[in-house]
Amino acid sequence: MEKHRRIFTSSLIIVSLMLCSSAIITAQLTADFYASTCPGVFEVVRKTLKSAIMNEMRMGASILRLHFHDCFVNGCDGSVLLDGNNTEKLALANLNSARGFDVIDTIKSAVESNCSGVVSCADILAIAARDAVLFSGGRPWKVLLGRRDGLVANVTGAGSSLPTPFESVSQIIAKFVAVGLDITDVVSLSGAHTIGLAKCATFSPRLFNFSGTGKPDSTMDTDMVSDLQSLCPQTDDGNRTTALDRGSTDVFDNHYFKNLLNNKGLLTSDQVLFSSDEAATTTRALVQAYSNNPSLFFKDFINSMIKMGNISPLTGSAGEIRKNCRVVN
Ligand code: HEM
Ligand SMILES: *[C@@H]1O[C@H](CO)[C@@H](O)[C@H](O)[C@H]1NC(C)=O
Ligand SMILES: *[C@@H]1O[C@H](CO)[C@@H](O)[C@H](O)[C@H]1NC(C)=O
Ligand SMILES: *[C@@H]1O[C@H](CO)[C@@H](O)[C@H](O)[C@H]1NC(C)=O
Ligand SMILES: *[C@@H]1O[C@H](CO)[C@@H](O)[C@H](O)[C@H]1NC(C)=O
Ligand SMILES: *[C@@H]1O[C@H](CO)[C@@H](O)[C@H](O)[C@H]1NC(C)=O
Repeated sequence: MEKHRRIFTSSLIIVSLMLCSSAIITAQLTADFYASTCPGVFEVVRKTLKSAIMNEMRMGASILRLHFHDCFVNGCDGSVLLDGNNTEKLALANLNSARGFDVIDTIKSAVESNCSGVVSCADILAIAARDAVLFSGGRPWKVLLGRRDGLVANVTGAGSSLPTPFESVSQIIAKFVAVGLDITDVVSLSGAHTIGLAKCATFSPRLFNFSGTGKPDSTMDTDMVSDLQSLCPQTDDGNRTTALDRGSTDVFDNHYFKNLLNNKGLLTSDQVLFSSDEAATTTRALVQAYSNNPSLFFKDFINSMIKMGNISPLTGSAGEIRKNCRVVN
């Protein structure tokens, strides 16, 4: 907890500096979208998220991932938050995995009491994702706003658009390109795995009989293999969790990339960014660059987060401002 308090304190200093930097404006979304209609939104989101993270450090990671899973499916429209039978929550990538929905509800009600019917759930996710990075020790940026909430969830879209941990570099790149992102975005945004946890089920194929070889994945450090074999026995249900960034679990830094250089990536989809043959002509050089240049990682990560936040937003009179993030009005 002491370490977390230090991170909060230094984050607040950085936030004050951030307020002086210039606004980034794109064609559609703007940093000052709520300047007159809900000037308190940033403070309300940050305060509410802060207590959720003080309560459970992992929550920052969970909220950051929710924004990613929102944006990749029908654009950043809050669709991941909808409850119901055919919703994105039931897709493989989210079921028993995506979390933080209660925290988004708490933030939404705090925002609604501050200014009712004004701020979309999609924008709350974007602001909260930025603050989650900040509270984990990362650098701040100006979040572009003005998204409206979608009217449908897309369970098939979630099934096909979200990358899986078992895919190759080219398959992952293809899914990013499909939403207008590029190879740099793949590598910098994968750096989000500098915080948070993953279940055994998402990496256990690497531990015992990888691709039918009868052996563990040779691109996983052998001590790490032994550790994870005991954490994830083959008879277990796959629900136990471990750090995505071993050795620097809760801190938003470039340690994730250092791990990849040392065969300590957790997911196949992490380690292939450095170790696969395909990586030589696509992602490896960036992994190396980020591993020894944290400022470059932070700069590219922020740029990619803004790009990701710009995926097909609903603006103007499209969609709606949901009253409850879980249901359409
Ligand atoms: C490049 C393709 C990606 C793949 C294949 C992938 C896959 C995964 C998987 C399998 C987990 C563990 C889920 C679980 O065990 O319940 C996870 C966790 C996480 N992912 Fe990704 N991810 C990718 C990209 C991203 C991106 C772009 C972001 C955000 C910008 C992100 C943020 C996170 C975070 C923060 C966690 C930890 C969540 C928590 O602790 O609750 N991931 N990811
Ligand atoms: C979901 O499906 C169940 C069983 O088919 C049905 O009873 C329920 O009303 C459905 N819920 C919604 C929100 O559509
Ligand atoms: C909204 O939140 C801001 C920032 O916390 C606060 O200054 C303002 O008084 C709040 N307004 C209402 C109506 O709650
Ligand atoms: C759901 O996603 C798929 C795949 O991206 C897309 O083709 C389809 O139009 C989407 N459906 C809805 C209802 O938005
Ligand atoms: C590993 O998997 C392959 C293919 O699924 C199988 O033929 C082989 O018997 C397995 N080896 C061990 C040691 O379990
Ligand atoms: C993992 O936990 C979830 C929720 O608690 C449960 O529904 C699921 O069955 C568990 N997974 C397995 C493979 O048992």
